[in-house]
Amino acid sequence: MTKKFSRKIGQKIVIGNWKMNPLTVAEAKRIIVSVKKAAKKLNRTKVVICPPSPFIGYALPRVPEKSTAKGVVSVGAQDVFYEEQGAFTGEVSARQLADMDLGYVIVGHSERRRAGEGAFAAETDVVVAKKAIAVAQAGMVAVLCVGETVRDAHGEYLDFLRNQIRASLQGFSKKYIEERRLVVAYEPVWAIGAKEAMTPTLIHEMTIFVKKVLADLYGQEEAFDVPVLYGGSVNFRNAADIIRGGEVNGLLVGRESVNAPGFAELIRAVDEVK
Ligand code: PGA
Repeated sequence: MTKKFSRKIGQKIVIGNWKMNPLTVAEAKRIIVSVKKAAKKLNRTKVVICPPSPFIGYALPRVPEKSTAKGVVSVGAQDVFYEEQGAFTGEVSARQLADMDLGYVIVGHSERRRAGEGAFAAETDVVVAKKAIAVAQAGMVAVLCVGETVRDAHGEYLDFLRNQIRASLQGFSKKYIEERRLVVAYEPVWAIGAKEAMTPTLIHEMTIFVKKVLADLYGQEEAFDVPVLYGGSVNFRNAADIIRGGEVNGLLVGRESVNAPGFAELIRAVDEVK
C-alpha cells in the first residue's frame, strides 16, 4: 500500500523556485545554510527549496528526516521527464528524483509552458499531466503551476484557467489526491517577475475559483485538502498579507528565494500568520 504524504493541518507551505540561479556552488551553499537556519525557528510552515539540478545534492538533509519534522527543509526539483528511464538525453525521471529523497517536483511552470523561448520546446497540458502523474506515481508531490497569461474584461481568463487545470490533471487519479500528492500553485503569468504581486483580494477570488475547479474534478472534501499556493512577485514585504488576505495555503517564490536574507524574513513573516 502506498503511504499518504504526511501534511499537518493548517500548515503553510513556502516553495522557493531558484530557477537558473545562483551562478556558483559557493553561493548556493550560502543560501541553503541561511534557509536551514531560518527554518529551525518555524512552527507552522513547511519550507521546500528547488535548486537547479547540479545543486540538489548540497541541499538534501544529511540524514533523511521525516518531512513533517520541525525545521526540516525539503528539497524539490524544478521539472522532470515523464518516462521512467532510457535514451532521453538531458532528462531526469521521477523515479530518479524520488530515489534521491526529493519530496516535491514543480510541473508546468509558465516558463516551460511558453512557446519559442530559449532552448526548450513549449510544454503542453498533455505533457504537464504526464509529468504530474509520473511524480505522484513515484511517491512525491507534484506542484502543478497554472495561471492565465492575460486578464480580459469579459472573464475569459476564468475559462482559460478552468481548461488549463482540467487538462493538466487529465488522468491524475483521485487516489493521488487522497494520498496528498498534489499542490496547485496559482501563478498569473503577468504577475511573475513583475514589479507587483496580484492583490490579496483578487488572489482570494482566484483561490476559491481554483478550489471549485478541483471540487468539480475530485469532490468537495478532496479539493479542500489540496493546498493552493500563490506565486508571482512575492517578497518578504507582501508575503504575510497575501497569506492572510488571499487565504492561500502557501506561496511559490521566485526571485526572493535566492535572496538569502529576504527569504529568511519571508518565511518568518509567513510563520507568524495564525
Ligand atoms: P517571481 O517568480 O517570484 O520572481 O515573480 C515566481 C515564479 O515564477 O514562480
